[in-house]
Amino acid sequence: MTDADGRAAAPWIVVLTGAGISAESGIPTFRDAGGLWEGHSVEDVATPEGFERDPDKVQRFYDARRRAAASVAPNAAHRALARLERVLGDRLLVVTQNVDDLHERAGTRRLVHMHGELGRVLCRGCGARPEWRDTLVDRPPCPACGARMLRPDVVWFGEMPYDLDRIEDAVVACDLFVSVGTSGAVYPAAGYVALAAAFGALTVELNLERSDAAIPFDQSRIGRATEIVPAWVDEMLEALPPRD
Ligand code: OAD
Repeated sequence: MTDADGRAAAPWIVVLTGAGISAESGIPTFRDAGGLWEGHSVEDVATPEGFERDPDKVQRFYDARRRAAASVAPNAAHRALARLERVLGDRLLVVTQNVDDLHERAGTRRLVHMHGELGRVLCRGCGARPEWRDTLVDRPPCPACGARMLRPDVVWFGEMPYDLDRIEDAVVACDLFVSVGTSGAVYPAAGYVALAAAFGALTVELNLERSDAAIPFDQSRIGRATEIVPAWVDEMLEALPPRD
């Protein structure tokens, strides 16, 4: 890669993260043994229909996840990505499928939560999406309009993920697409590797096992996120062109 003056330029990187990056912080993944979807029915707790059927059950499920996420800390993989952003600035975008806030607590700022956030609620009355640290099962009023119609601001199956245009623009434009700790089971996120590759990016996966990707990655590095993500970030930083 070269810039307009023919000098080597820092690459434009998109990093897609999934539950595997937060696993070693103590947040269970979805599809591994002992994962969230083993103990819960997706239809019951992760669809609009499940919420209509039994809102208290769904609110209790996300109240418990919100409490659990607040009680854990970012790990070395989250911190390594924040370190990379401090050097690359707006040449790095982290797109996470995770609803925890461990990336931002580690220091990442250029971040898209495509599946929403446990730390926000969505008012079904007025559409406000205020920050929220409390429980919802007790049906508190919306801080904006007062309606008792708050739900977790988490994208459920059958709903549209957030910021898809911004994400797709970044995936199409990047030089390097890196997937961390995701099984590749849920679209549209699972399709980004093929989109990035179609537009000429190098694709790299950092995961505990080879994921079920839409197309094979150019490189797969297999291991625990807290080990392989910091090692990959170190390599990237060493390979960057010197600054003037
Ligand atoms: P999954 O549970 O499907 O996949 C987690 C991936 O992380 C697997 O490939 C594991 O091998 C890997 N993994 C586990 N521990 C790891 C570790 N310590 N280091 C590195 N990798 C590790 O989770 P996601 O792919 O994030 O969506 O799931 C995608 C979406 O499915 C979620 O965002 C959620 C879920 O249904 C919604 O709720 C809309």
